[in-house]
Amino acid sequence: MKIAVYPGSFDPVTNGHLDIIQRASKIFDKVIVSILQNSNKVPMFTVEERIYFLRQVTKNLDNVEVDSFSGLLVNYMKQKSAKVIIKGLRAVSDFEYEFQMALMNNKLNPEIETLFMMTSSKYSYLSSSIVKEVARLRGCLKGLVPDEIIFEIVNKIRKTRG
Ligand code: PNS
Repeated sequence: MKIAVYPGSFDPVTNGHLDIIQRASKIFDKVIVSILQNSNKVPMFTVEERIYFLRQVTKNLDNVEVDSFSGLLVNYMKQKSAKVIIKGLRAVSDFEYEFQMALMNNKLNPEIETLFMMTSSKYSYLSSSIVKEVARLRGCLKGLVPDEIIFEIVNKIRKTRG
């Protein structure tokens, strides 16, 4: 069984992420979308909220699982019997850091391959950070994140504001 892991912060999942998940699910027997816990970034959404969003938007994809991990990605992959890391590339600016991570992961475990998928051009400007910025400033999220989670994102921001 060919298992791939799509790791990330997903704070929150965007239409760009979902596009990669849908395409990867056609290539692999199983895709595990996994959220890094305890990253250095301060997230807007808790791991539980991010898992909930991802489960909502992937509920029609039978071979997609949502999970979280801490520590080294390569150790988590071994635990899951996965050999392939999926990464989405939006622009040349993503490349340098992603290249470094791919080489480091391969150095830590030479059996691990990183597969880069080009984000669809219609989503190449999207990132979780820019989505949060638009949401905070009360902009419209339609087309940026899956419709099912727009209400929850707006609601959370409203509550944070008090
Ligand atoms: O969505 P992000 O924040 O760009 O995702 C980054 C992520 C989670 C893929 C990366 O930080 C990661 O794999 N962290 C796990 C820790 C690890 O294995 N580090 C060594 C690899 S360079």
